[in-house]
Parts: sequence; C-alpha cells; structure tokens
Amino acid sequence: MIQRINPFAPIYHKINNGKNEEKYHKIIQGGGNALPEYLDVELTNLCNYRCCFCPTGTNAMQRMRGMMPDDVANAIVENVRKYHIAGVRFIRWGEPTMHPKYIEIMEHVKKAGALIHINTNGSLLDKEQMRRLLDIHLDSIKFSFQGADKGTYNEMREGGDYDRLLEIVRTFYELRGDREYPYIQISTTLTSEGADQIEGFKRDIGDYCDYYNVGYTKLNHLDVESMGIDEEKKEKIRRLQENEKINHKYREVCTEAFDKLSINWNGDVTLCCSDYDNFMIVGNVLDNDIKSIFNCNATKIYRKAIVNRQYGLIKCCRECYETIPLTE
Ligand SMILES: C[S@@+](CC[C@H](N)C(=O)[O-])C[C@H]1O[C@@H](n2cnc3c(N)ncnc32)[C@H](O)[C@@H]1O
Ligand code: SF4
Ligand code: SF4
Repeated sequence: MIQRINPFAPIYHKINNGKNEEKYHKIIQGGGNALPEYLDVELTNLCNYRCCFCPTGTNAMQRMRGMMPDDVANAIVENVRKYHIAGVRFIRWGEPTMHPKYIEIMEHVKKAGALIHINTNGSLLDKEQMRRLLDIHLDSIKFSFQGADKGTYNEMREGGDYDRLLEIVRTFYELRGDREYPYIQISTTLTSEGADQIEGFKRDIGDYCDYYNVGYTKLNHLDVESMGIDEEKKEKIRRLQENEKINHKYREVCTEAFDKLSINWNGDVTLCCSDYDNFMIVGNVLDNDIKSIFNCNATKIYRKAIVNRQYGLIKCCRECYETIPLTE
C-alpha cells in the first residue's frame, strides 16, 4: 500500500510552529506586506443537507445565500497567482459540490499555483465528477461523517445516508487506484457514541482513506433560539447540548486570525473560518486584493484583541467554542 503524506502538511507545520504574539508583531512590522499562508473559500453557503449541528443546516445563518459568481472566483485565482498562495481549501459554510462550476474553479486555482483541498458531505459525487477531480490533480479531499454508524450519522445529518456515503468513499478510493493524490481523509465528530461504535466506524472506513480523524461535535456554542427549524428539532439539539461532555481546552491565544483569510461566496473576507454570519468581515476581494485586506486596519484591531485575549470585544469570539471554557 502506498503511504501518502498530506500535501498541506508543510503549510500546517509552519503555522503550528509559530507563536501568535510573534506573528502579530511581524505582521505589524511588515509595513503592509504580510500575506496569508492559505485561503479558505466558500463556493456556496447553500446545502442539500440539514445537519442539526451546523448553522447552514439549521438556518441559524442569517446572511444571504448564494453561489460564487465568476468575478469573485476570478479575483481569487488572480490573487493566488499574484501572491503565490500555497494552498486553497474549498471549505466553509455550505456544500461546495453544489456549485455548478466547482471543479472548473478548483482547476483554475490549481493552475494558478496553489494546492487544492475540498471538504464535502460526498452526496453529489458521481463517477464522472470523481474522474474529473482526479484529472485536475486534486491534492486533498475530506469526506465529512458525523456519529459513528448508520443510526447516529443519519440522526445528525438530515438528508444523508451513512451506507450511501460509505459507498461513495469506497468508489472514490478505488478510482484513485495507485495515484499519489488526492490524499483522502475522513472526519467524524461524536456526541455520546461508545467505544464499540467507534471501533465499528474505524472498521467501516479504515481501509478506504489515508487518514481519519474522530473529534467531538460542538453544540454548546449554538444559539438554538435563532435557528430556523421546528420546535421538535430545537428540542433535540437542546438535549444534545445538555449531554455534551467536552473536556475542551481553553486556547491561550486563538490561532485563527494570523495565517489565513476566509472568503465567502460573494467575495466578503472574514478573519475567522468559524465566522458564519459576517461578524469579522475585513474586506471584499472585488474591492481590494488579499495583501491589502490581510494588512488592513480592521485586521489589526481584531488581532490585537485576540492577542490580548479580549475575546469579549468581538461578537464572534465571545460566543466561540474556542474561547468558552465548557464545564466538564
Ligand atoms: C460546515 S461543513 C462544510 C463542508 C461540507 N458541507 C461538509 O459537510 O463537509 C465543514 C465541516 O465542519 C464540520 N462542523 C460543522 N459544524 C460542526 C460542529 N458544530 N461540530 C463539529 N464539527 C462541525 C462538519 O462536520 C464538516 O466536516
Ligand atoms: S452538509 Fe456540511 S454545510 Fe451542509 S448542513 Fe451539513 S455540515 Fe453544514
Ligand atoms: S471566533 Fe473563535 S476561532 Fe474565530 S478568531 Fe474568534 S476565538 Fe478564534
């Protein structure tokens, strides 16, 4: 079996090894020349699923829904080319494979010089799309599960079916064959599944990916009252929230704002990937290039508050699971 390495590993390694205070001062002293190491891009904030833990699926998200237009996609490609951005991840608050040009846009970004990654619920990938993804030399893909078996997955991911996703992952794995890339990852997050279920999950997926990650579903930060769903579903989430037992480490300084930019479908740029509703917007790629956005005054104000751990000053951070010390 070929041992594959995550092509994004050098980028993550670089980011994880720096102290944010130092990064902050370096950006300030850089005189406007600092650049993000990578970009997170939202091709759409629409989705064909109604996952109960996600602001997209629960309609907690208030901002306008849409698909990335050509001018925004072109601006991203030009920025990648001009500033030699190392990687672009197609992941944010929607299902990227719903965008009718998602493969074409990823191909343009790849040709502009960046590594490309996509996060997907997998549901829309047919064999033809899989072959095209292989043809454009996709570098990395992550299939998102939730829960650890058919029952728990289907409960969390309304619209999805565990067995079908397994089939899609296995088909993609087999089509990849001996190619070195894409690096195939699987992630799942748990609420209260037991060890047997988790072992069963690993048996189901272990032979069909290069890496898997089992984390926790984070629910306590979600505002159930703002969700556009019926009372029965709200009650289910409240119950899950009560059961949530996360031994969550409080981050000394959140790492989000120092190495990357996250771009919404309409070109708005936010400083944090978990900002689903425009709480930390610092520019738009149709108005400014990413270098000037990455160094603009608004980014400095946010970064200063984060470095000083003044999370209470920023709405998004105040309610963020990275900063809320959850009870054990
Ligand atoms: C928002 S989704 C967007 C991409 C795609 N639709 C998908 O489901 O992979 C990106 C990732 O965020 C994860 N996610 C969203 N809300 C979460 C939460 N409350 N707890 C844990 N993971 C979450 C999803 O499981 C998924 O892997
Ligand atoms: S599939 Fe992804 S974007 Fe859609 S509701 Fe689920 S987690 Fe959210
Ligand atoms: S919202 Fe959370 S993850 Fe984002 S910058 Fe603030 S503390 Fe960090």
